[in-house]
Amino acid sequence: MSQHLLLSLVILAISPIPGALQDTAVSPTQEEPEDLDCGRPEPSARIMGGSDAQPGTWPWQVSLHRGGGHICGGSLIAPSWVLSAAHCFVTNGTLEPAAEWSALLGAHSQDGTPDGAHVRAVAAILVPDNYSRVERGADLALLRLAAPAKLGPAVRPVCLPRASHRFAHGTACWATGWGDIQEADPLPLPWVLQEVELILLGEAACQCLYSRPGPFNLTFQLLPGMLCAGYPEGRRDTCQGDSGGPLVCEEAGRWFQAGITSFGFGCGRRNRPGVFTAVAPYEAWIREHVKGPEPGPAFPSQPQESHSGLQELRENCTIALPECGKALQPGTWPWEARVMVPGSRPCHGALVSESWVLAPASCFLDPISSDRPPRDLDAWRVLLPSRPRAERVARLVPHENASWEDASDLALLQLRAPVNLSAAPRPVCLPHPEHYFLPGSRCRLARWGRGEPAPGLSPLLEAELLGGWWCHCLYGRQGVPVPLPGDPPHALCPVYLEEEEAGRCWNDSRWSLLCQEEGTWFLAGVRGFSTGCLRPRAFSPLQTHGPWISHVTRGAYLEDQLAWDWGPEGEETETQTCPPHTEHGACGLRPEAAQMGVQWPWLAEVHVAGGRVCTGILVAPGWVLAATHCVLRLGSTTVPYIEVYLGRAGTSPLPQGHQLSRLVTSAPPLLCQTEGGSWVLTGMAVRGSRELFAAIGPEEVWISQTVGEAHFLSPGGSPYWPPEGSNLCHPDIAGASGSPRPALFLLLLTPLIQG
Ligand code: ARG
Repeated sequence: MSQHLLLSLVILAISPIPGALQDTAVSPTQEEPEDLDCGRPEPSARIMGGSDAQPGTWPWQVSLHRGGGHICGGSLIAPSWVLSAAHCFVTNGTLEPAAEWSALLGAHSQDGTPDGAHVRAVAAILVPDNYSRVERGADLALLRLAAPAKLGPAVRPVCLPRASHRFAHGTACWATGWGDIQEADPLPLPWVLQEVELILLGEAACQCLYSRPGPFNLTFQLLPGMLCAGYPEGRRDTCQGDSGGPLVCEEAGRWFQAGITSFGFGCGRRNRPGVFTAVAPYEAWIREHVKGPEPGPAFPSQPQESHSGLQELRENCTIALPECGKALQPGTWPWEARVMVPGSRPCHGALVSESWVLAPASCFLDPISSDRPPRDLDAWRVLLPSRPRAERVARLVPHENASWEDASDLALLQLRAPVNLSAAPRPVCLPHPEHYFLPGSRCRLARWGRGEPAPGLSPLLEAELLGGWWCHCLYGRQGVPVPLPGDPPHALCPVYLEEEEAGRCWNDSRWSLLCQEEGTWFLAGVRGFSTGCLRPRAFSPLQTHGPWISHVTRGAYLEDQLAWDWGPEGEETETQTCPPHTEHGACGLRPEAAQMGVQWPWLAEVHVAGGRVCTGILVAPGWVLAATHCVLRLGSTTVPYIEVYLGRAGTSPLPQGHQLSRLVTSAPPLLCQTEGGSWVLTGMAVRGSRELFAAIGPEEVWISQTVGEAHFLSPGGSPYWPPEGSNLCHPDIAGASGSPRPALFLLLLTPLIQG
């Protein structure tokens, strides 16, 4: 389904239209002679999650064409009349000319010249006066054909319900159409009509689902004259191109049209069933507008047995929870798949559906002879958690432009037989293209591909996502605007909570980035091999590949964004420019090594139990300021044994060519020189980065209250900003909104450990 509809619904208004249904109360009481047999297909004889229909099953199905192609569905209700949806014909408030449209009747496949099918020109299109937009209801249209349809086994009208007709919730009905088989995934050739069984949801059950924020954090108010059909768990639904087509329910051997496909939020999404125009309330409108010499539509009275005992059933509000991304314990990933290819080390991938595993293409394909797909799939095995034996592989589908850059180094493996999903194995959730992982999201790094992690490193590193602005300014190309939330980001930057040891970067391993929202894990990105220790490293977002993955797998678990709490960081989206780059990244680190040998008298070495050493800064005679992440391990609240050495953490940066005598875990702080010549502590390195600094300013109150004797720049004394292009601090770095807050720790020095 198109982004277009999703986005247009962002601005939907939800005021009901009074009087929309006022004129529909007319209901003939006595049985009329039936001039037309309806709703009976010849005996014998996308939709998302549906299947090919048998020819002749749905003889009232019409395809409405404009410009030579299928646009919408419709249903034949009388020889010269087709029922469809108003929104198919109204653009920007104006009704399109009937002459541009034609109706294809009796078609099964739309490939080539459909046999037994015939085309009719459209003579007139009628739309209710009060129709304005799909979300406001009255989304129906009547099309008068220029000549009556040729009725036959493949072309027959459907029965219409009277205004008094009640379709019980819980009834299984069928929707049909040539629409997309998933969001943004058109029905493939030979364009065979699709059918899908949908359950009628009562108004209360449907409203209950739509009252919970869903895609785009939207809720929706159903209006009278609308009807919902589908499943709380989604996955089966109508989609773009099905609009105008019928939703039919069988009663006593006849098919009645209960609804007209109208709209939805995405297609097949969880808790977002399809919304249909209810046909029964429009009996009077249809009768009034269908005029002419030929027989009109049939409105048989509701068969007795289906009418009785309907309203007693109580509806319950069943909300579906995500079926993917649940891990009982972080780290024991129920989607972890190890692909065993004879002769090579296992390749780590992720289960994305009952029968598909996602892994790097470079695990399986030789970049040099990539046009030769491997043929020994028979010998391949996939190990999944809690499965008694290995799965066999049926197919390997490399990414359409698998390029051996991380961004598209992806392949999908189909298992010979689908696995039963339970606590394990269970697929990981994949993000939709518009997903926005919030800054500060809790993430983990997991094994990916064939690389071995450096010894001693936990393969379950915890990470936190850096704001998109920072990530973009570190890794984005200069002059490329920062993508707004909702636009796929170019990169995702996790900041690892556990520091790696300097000099031992994970050059030799790939990682996938799993991020959590409301307890549900998403495969957010992947990262290939890289050199250098620049942190936070950029991961290629997976969300851009969602459409390809769902296209191939037809049922990978794409899940809606679950967390929308942007917090104050949401403002970062307004900052559209990055500070100028220097050779050190987004901001200069400190004066160049020209002053080699000059000691920074306030720098301290903070030695934490276990050997970690990080930089502290003397802010008052007895106080050293350090970054929290240097001092505290994640999740631990006990302060470890710490020693602080003063007067020895000298030259920063270390002179070129010098051997590192010890590992310094955190980057030196950002110092700026004022006009008076004194140096001011302006920022502390953001965890995991040597290029990004969090401004100290906001912490001034806390520092002065704790320390008392610390010296602060007087409010009037503005820092001195060096000219553009110099390697010193740039004002943008302090002014950039969305700057992470520094997590600081003040150490009170006791004489014992004063070095
Ligand atoms: N408006 C769509 C169309 O023009 C139909 C969308 C139905 N969507 C759904 N999720 N049920 O074809």
